[in-house]
Amino acid sequence: MAIHNPEIKYTKLFINNEFVAAESGKEFEVINPSTEDVICRVSEADKHDVDKAVAAARKAFHRTSQWRTMDASQRAILMHKLCDLIERDMNYLASLESLDNGKIFADSLGDLEYTVKTIRYYAGWCDKVQGVTIPCDGDFISMTRKEPVGVVGQIIPWNYPVMMLAWKWGPALAAGCCIVMKPSELTPLSALYLAALSKEAGFPDGVINVVPGFGPSAGAAVSEHHDIDKVAFTGSTAVGALVMQAAGKSNLKRVTFELGGKSPIVVFDDCGDLDEAVDTCHGGVMNNHGQNCCAASRCYVQESIYDEFVKRSVAMASKRVIGDPFDESSTMGPLINRVQMDKVLRYIESGKKEGAKLECGGIRKGSKGFFVVPTVFSNVTDEMTIAKEEIFGPVQSILKFSTMDEVIDRANKTTYGLASGVITKDINKALMFAQGIKSGSVWVNTYDLCQPQSPVGGYKQSGQGRELGEAGLEEYLETKTITIKIPSKF
Ligand code: NAI
Ligand code: MG
Repeated sequence: MAIHNPEIKYTKLFINNEFVAAESGKEFEVINPSTEDVICRVSEADKHDVDKAVAAARKAFHRTSQWRTMDASQRAILMHKLCDLIERDMNYLASLESLDNGKIFADSLGDLEYTVKTIRYYAGWCDKVQGVTIPCDGDFISMTRKEPVGVVGQIIPWNYPVMMLAWKWGPALAAGCCIVMKPSELTPLSALYLAALSKEAGFPDGVINVVPGFGPSAGAAVSEHHDIDKVAFTGSTAVGALVMQAAGKSNLKRVTFELGGKSPIVVFDDCGDLDEAVDTCHGGVMNNHGQNCCAASRCYVQESIYDEFVKRSVAMASKRVIGDPFDESSTMGPLINRVQMDKVLRYIESGKKEGAKLECGGIRKGSKGFFVVPTVFSNVTDEMTIAKEEIFGPVQSILKFSTMDEVIDRANKTTYGLASGVITKDINKALMFAQGIKSGSVWVNTYDLCQPQSPVGGYKQSGQGRELGEAGLEEYLETKTITIKIPSKF
């Protein structure tokens, strides 16, 4: 059950297991995107506070610390305890997420369930991180040990606040790292609450630190820091490039990125149930209001079914109920802020100007809250801005294609490569597409099915490294090789 006005309990920085004000005393406003009201004010971290958090994390990472000397199986118990507490407070947390981000309550609950699944999945890894023994030349034995990378900076966005936290805390804690997390300035509340739960679960001082603040100050302080060993970033490609430069200019810290996308979904005329295909494509782009890095924002439909597909997609988009995320009849909430809303409306204008056919939506709803009506464009061509740039809003572009070769080449003609989808009943077509497409995830007859067990991440400018699965854990590990001479005689 949703809690309509969840009490805001934590608004300060979380450093060394304590909530503390920013050294500067500064605070920033947290806004409810559904009403544009101020929810609360949160302490604003800058470089000094990041320094304090890093010092706490570094101390917690010392080889003699409680964290480093703890059995790996005990780390797993702490992670499970954290999950028990998230489950205890799930309705509260989902309400907090809906208030702060604007996503409908049912979706927030889904995000929380997935958060728990992800952290439990990684808890299972804690005592299963193994090295190998290597048959090397001569009288030597060589073995590898997997060790935590160290103090990790984690910078997350606002579109899935608590889920992005889980994707980053899960593998970092399983590996044995210590964390300095900077949540988005637009959605800091769920991270602060989870910080409090981590203390209640019993994580030692300094293992988890949360420092809300702005990108150019707190975010940059993380990516430029000389005593952070790795930074994991999710957000725009432009900021990803800045983080990489900062890593290079400071201490060559390891970087992993999950960045933007312009993901294609391709529907062949042998898709079987057309309504199901329409539904998959609609959900692929409209879920989370289109504020999704994997959003299926280029929908390629084979020519013989194109007109009917467009008709049914418009009907589906028009059925969406846009409104208060706490209202059970709503199926879509507001965009995150005015900047994003204006940006999405500008893209819609560009689509109209460049000759795409606006089939439905295309406007803001009301004058309070950042609601944009689900929008469908047909007759979209590859050169149009709406087919090239990440919109990050509820805008579906439907393009027409005729052959497999053509559609793979067109789908690949982008600087992004995060995700893709193909809908067909022919396994050969699905396999040919899956091999030809340059993207980190390919979904066949489904879309955006991210599971804790399977890695996700981007080709090209959509990312570096992977999150989730064993591949995601590997990003938080160093490999140490220990080589021992075997005496030839006693
Ligand atoms: P952003 O990339 O600016 O924000 C993401 C995170 O990076 C936030 O925590 C922010 O504070 C931080 N950040 C910003 N500047 C930084 C810097 N110089 N150094 C270190 N950290 C910094 O994304 P924004 O402006 O909120 O959204 C712009 C566009 O980015 C969206 O319209 C969308 O296209 C894309 N985006 C993609 C996301 C994804 O999941 N791949 C998530 C959020 C945005
Ligand atoms: Mg920004």
